[in-house]
Amino acid sequence: MKIIIVVGARPNFMKAAPLVFAVRDHNNRVEPVDMIRCILVHTGQHYDEAMSGSFFSDLRLPQPDIQLGVGSGSHATQTAEIMRRFEDVVLQEHPDVVVVVGDVNSTVACALVASKMSLDSKGTRPLIAHVEAGLRSFDRDMPEEVNRIVTDHVSDLLFVTEQSGVINLLHEGVARSQIHFVGNTMIDSLLASKDRADESRILQSLGLRNQNGARNCSNGTARYALLTLHRPSNVDDRETFVSILEGLEELCDLYPIVFPVHPRTRKRISEFQLECLLRGIRLVDPLGYLDFLCLMKHAMLVVTDSGGIQEETTCLGIPCLTVRENTERPVTVSQGSNVIAGTDKDRIRVAVKEQLNTRREGSLPEKWDGFAATRIVAALVAALAKRQSVLV
Ligand code: UD1
Repeated sequence: MKIIIVVGARPNFMKAAPLVFAVRDHNNRVEPVDMIRCILVHTGQHYDEAMSGSFFSDLRLPQPDIQLGVGSGSHATQTAEIMRRFEDVVLQEHPDVVVVVGDVNSTVACALVASKMSLDSKGTRPLIAHVEAGLRSFDRDMPEEVNRIVTDHVSDLLFVTEQSGVINLLHEGVARSQIHFVGNTMIDSLLASKDRADESRILQSLGLRNQNGARNCSNGTARYALLTLHRPSNVDDRETFVSILEGLEELCDLYPIVFPVHPRTRKRISEFQLECLLRGIRLVDPLGYLDFLCLMKHAMLVVTDSGGIQEETTCLGIPCLTVRENTERPVTVSQGSNVIAGTDKDRIRVAVKEQLNTRREGSLPEKWDGFAATRIVAALVAALAKRQSVLV
């Protein structure tokens, strides 16, 4: 059995790493004939050390077997270039399964390629497995929402992280037998790395540990908030970006805010000349996985427009405020520590106060237990055995 696992952009690495390790565990348990050959393909959608390279060492993920080196471009150019280059890989490798994760352009591009592939005279194509299937924001202006819908509808095996995903897929007519509620591989990575994150020196280097003179210290660590923003709808529109920053002004007066800045956001800050609005905020370059995890673990509040961070804060029990009008991850609100604040400055101010004053007692969503990847590998093995018995 040969599987290709595709990664491309920053949020893919932590979702794919547990799959690589679960395949390794499988191979350690079975006879050679039942081993899985795993090929890791990196599309190069994200390409520099800060957005890609450092994640491989932090997650202990082996270097990719194949690099497509696609780089930046418009959505159409990037997606098309990934498709063109990935087609050659599939033709050369003849995988039994192509696994794609998340909702980025690399996800949809590689799923589409595999869905139209014919690898033998019978027209057999690889099975397509989508990890993190079924999530819906119901906002088609988000490029990721389009990627999710298309990927789900060309995939054979849909691995779902929360119950809402099962419901969404059933509503869209996906067969029950294709849907597997397995838990969350991003949380597998988090649980595996949580303790190692304490080795990070990021708090000291940012002066957030009291030996370096931090303010408002408790247990040696300063009280601070953590901010991330990169969604095109938030940072590509000046008015929205300004509204979010104004909504955080009072928080900024109370506590230090650390803001690791995504490359897209960095460009917009200078283009829109927002430096004066950011005067009280500590801007840093994008951080590695363990440094960011360490900052999240010790933050009193996380403000974000990221999808994955809503899940990670839920798992860590850290209050999270999402500056979007919706979330495709409703379990983080119904059960976790997340609040949807929108992008209006007044709503954000109120939500910040509420999150600071009331401690939400969240709980861990079902199956977010560190074993999602193990369940996925077991399901892949079973699906291939079934397919082979049909073909014979
Ligand atoms: C992509 C994903 C988004 C995900 C985000 C996490 C899509 C449609 N979007 O958005 O779902 O949440 O990644 O980061 O796939 N850049 C660098 N260095 C890099 C990578 C990118 O400087 O290593 C620059 C690019 O040149 C570009 C900008 O960052 O100007 C945005 O990159 P892009 O791949 O277009 O999408 P993201 O906004 O990162």
